[in-house]
Amino acid sequence: MNLSLQRDLFTKATNPWKRFLPRVEDLSGPDIPMAVWDIPYTIPQLSYATHGHFRYYGKFPSSVAAMILEDYPAPDENSCVVDNFCGSGTTLVEAKLRGIKSVGVDVSWLAAFASNVKTTIIDPAEVLDLFSQVKKNFAHQVVDDDQCLSEKFVVKWFSTGAARDLLSLQKALVPLPLGSARDFLVLAFLAIIRRVSKAYDGEVRPHINKSKKPRDVWAAYEKKVRDMVANHVAFQAVIEDDAFSKCYLHNNLDLRNIELPGTPYLIVSHPPYLNSFDYRPVFSLEYFWGEPFRIDAKTPSLKGLEFDEIRAYPASETISEQYYDHLRRTYAEAFALQQSDGLLAVVIGDCTVNKKLEPVLQKTAEICEQIGYTLEKVNLRTTHYGLGKYAYNFRADYHGDAEKRDGILILRKP
Ligand SMILES: C[S@@+](CC[C@H](N)C(=O)[O-])C[C@H]1O[C@@H](n2cnc3c(N)ncnc32)[C@H](O)[C@@H]1O
Repeated sequence: MNLSLQRDLFTKATNPWKRFLPRVEDLSGPDIPMAVWDIPYTIPQLSYATHGHFRYYGKFPSSVAAMILEDYPAPDENSCVVDNFCGSGTTLVEAKLRGIKSVGVDVSWLAAFASNVKTTIIDPAEVLDLFSQVKKNFAHQVVDDDQCLSEKFVVKWFSTGAARDLLSLQKALVPLPLGSARDFLVLAFLAIIRRVSKAYDGEVRPHINKSKKPRDVWAAYEKKVRDMVANHVAFQAVIEDDAFSKCYLHNNLDLRNIELPGTPYLIVSHPPYLNSFDYRPVFSLEYFWGEPFRIDAKTPSLKGLEFDEIRAYPASETISEQYYDHLRRTYAEAFALQQSDGLLAVVIGDCTVNKKLEPVLQKTAEICEQIGYTLEKVNLRTTHYGLGKYAYNFRADYHGDAEKRDGILILRKP
């Protein structure tokens, strides 16, 4: 494995997490300061550090979290950042790169699991040792086709060979001793599932891609583990301070019961976009194969918490109302948690509903102002990603449609 190449790419001199910051253009707004954050980078460029460990559909570019933290660094070492829609932990990784303590909450065990692996220091030798064990276990597995092909779900989404190998790999991982090395190898397993399935890799919700070429499960897994180890080593090489970081499996409507490592000087918040998609079905393939590794298995009160996610799609009248109500309640929680001067950065975007613009950005700002926050700045953002055929039909497309806006609201508790 060539770790040195990664290390060279990732030295303190080049600071990749600063190289891919948005290009900021200040706009003098009529009432409050405004800026445009242009992010002209590709997903591979933005996947430095541990950001590329798991493809979490619907995450924001690493440079959004990076820029927020550059603009608002922690005032002292007793401060921490909270991400109340943490997803795969992009904010937590960026906080760790800057030595800032962070806490996330998410209702999805998969999201919390990915976040925690991405920010936990590993011993690469231990991971590679355990990986050799997995290789042996995998080679010795005998799985009967009936075991994996009796489920219609499996037959629909996986070839016979892939299903058999995924079951063997799952069984090879289960007996490993619990700990960060095992979690790392489990995340690598979860990270290849979409790739070895019959579904499009690039579409958010799984859809069958009839012309997808079958991929070998073991080869995909081995490559994933090696890439992850190289990236993790490079990440660890530039962290100066192993600042506390943890994503809790928890509902953000109850933020006050979360244990924090400091004063929450900044809450970063990236809710699912209205009329975009619900998260749980997007990861149905990973939930299926990840069942033996669920972190909520031993905590009955948390089991199935992913079903409590905010509803965002489709934006019927009822769902839109519930959506704004959830935002109102969760930002009231955030407000109660913070001290005077605390910051809230909401990353959110407009959408269209029945071809009519739904000004989510503005409505969210109004909700936060009603709670007591003061709107301090609006950063509009443009992202040059390719657009999915299915998931992005109704949301801001960032490509010159002046009406639909995607942005970062910066609010402060007076
Ligand atoms: C837009 S994603 C956040 C992505 C994240 N910024 C990243 O880069 O990975 C929104 C997340 O909110 C989570 N979520 C939805 N409802 C929630 C709730 N009630 N409490 C906590 N998290 C929730 C979803 O599971 C999803 O992971």
